[in-house]
Amino acid sequence: MHNAAFAALGLDWRYLAFEVDPKNLRAAIEGAKAMNFAGLNLTVPHKLLAVEMMDALDESAEKWGAVNTIRFDNARAIGFNTDADAIVTALREDLKLELRGAKVLLLGAGGAGRTAALKLASESVAELFLVNRTETKVEAVAGEIIEHFPLTKVAVGFPKSAVDLVINATSLGLKPDDASPLDEKRFSLKQARAVYDMIYRPAETKLIASAKAAGCKTANGLGMLLHQGAKAFEIWTGKTAPLDVMRRALEKNIYGH
Ligand code: ATR
Repeated sequence: MHNAAFAALGLDWRYLAFEVDPKNLRAAIEGAKAMNFAGLNLTVPHKLLAVEMMDALDESAEKWGAVNTIRFDNARAIGFNTDADAIVTALREDLKLELRGAKVLLLGAGGAGRTAALKLASESVAELFLVNRTETKVEAVAGEIIEHFPLTKVAVGFPKSAVDLVINATSLGLKPDDASPLDEKRFSLKQARAVYDMIYRPAETKLIASAKAAGCKTANGLGMLLHQGAKAFEIWTGKTAPLDVMRRALEKNIYGH
């Protein structure tokens, strides 16, 4: 999506992927800086490690405690986080959802789940139900919300009544034989208006298929991928991201059409 966007704007830039062992992350960042790269994106497992390696943190990285975008400014590495805003932009755009006052069931309390939970609370959702395989992790996230966002009601476990939105932030669904991340004996999708699966490959996970069958509005994680990238593009280039070009490039590369 970035290369398509550079081409569309006539920028002689290139976006390349490098696989870096976490033990070499500092050297990789320093190397990119020394070679006058404009910036970097980081993904799992580098986002938390990089926080300590920045010369400065933008408010977005400070707030979410993770860096997914670096801009090199006069040999200084500035860390940003474009993931959290992308969640909300994608939910609004793809599901036409008003988050303020909404009731949300969030599955997963890893990196993506924690950021989503805190971001939704900061958007003034009324109630958050948090479910995760490892209870200690979800308790810790609930604790952070109670501390920072006291107006959002937070509970660990499944809701007893209907919700506006169910979000999957676990990695269950990435592999074809994965079970659904939602135990429908504990919570029926008939009780949900909309379902968002952060997974975008495959385009239709078991969760999305059951949600469609239950009559829910659905969307997969492609919008999140797009919007975190578009924001990073703007941070590096200072230009408005050509969203349609980027979306088409993603669809073509990921789904082949
Ligand atoms: P990410 O950065 O993508 O969030 P992560 O931090 O490794 O990645 O989190 C993965 C999430 O998927 C966690 O919520 C994890 O549950 P645990 O906290 O219990 O590990 C969840 N997950 C992964 N595999 C799972 C499985 N087989 N069953 C249930 N949950 C699973």
